Amino acid sequence: MDVFEAIAKRHSYRGPFRDQALPREDLRRIVQAGIQAPSGKNAQTTTFVVVDDLELILQIREVHPGNTAMQQAAAYVACVLDKVPEAIYERHSFQIEDCAASVENMLLAVTALGDATVWIDGWLRLEGMAEKIGALLGVPEDKIVRIILPLGIPLETHQQPGRKPFEERAWFNGYGV
Ligand SMILES: Cc1cc2nc3c(=O)[nH]c(=O)nc-3n(C[C@H](O)[C@H](O)[C@H](O)COP(=O)(O)O)c2cc1C
Repeated sequence: MDVFEAIAKRHSYRGPFRDQALPREDLRRIVQAGIQAPSGKNAQTTTFVVVDDLELILQIREVHPGNTAMQQAAAYVACVLDKVPEAIYERHSFQIEDCAASVENMLLAVTALGDATVWIDGWLRLEGMAEKIGALLGVPEDKIVRIILPLGIPLETHQQPGRKPFEERAWFNGYGV
């Protein structure tokens, strides 16, 4: 699958997964795609915890009562950032952007491998949730789980929802031209 096909096929998947573990090799390839994402000043601020241990998977499922994908995932990738991001350019940190770039690379890799996932962000921001997942994963006190991806082999076929047409969001040589 080339990159344009992966971009077109990628979608957020919140449905059921096959009850089947993912090969470590695939998990490594997915996270390696995240590692190879660009980052501000190449600071490589995002770190990753891959969860494929069944006991730990069950503990994460207990913390998250929500969507089917989180409940049935065969593995998770947690993206970890500093709680207080360090400024690396003037007064600016790029940790959020670094993390988002890594996540998108991983979403495309997941798609290319025929697996599925969804970017779980909002739920982690609810009171105490990121801390609970962080404690399960042994994340140090000064760091926070910012995004978690539930991974698995999808049992349903979903599609990317529609996008506004190019002309409504992009222009050549001037805004709104
Ligand atoms: C920054 C960000 C945060 C997101 N947070 C969540 C989330 O917490 N839970 C969820 O189910 N989907 C989340 N999503 C997925 C979006 O809902 C999804 O990308 C959007 O609806 C478009 O659908 P698509 O990914 O299938 O193209 C998030 C996506 C982004 C980029």
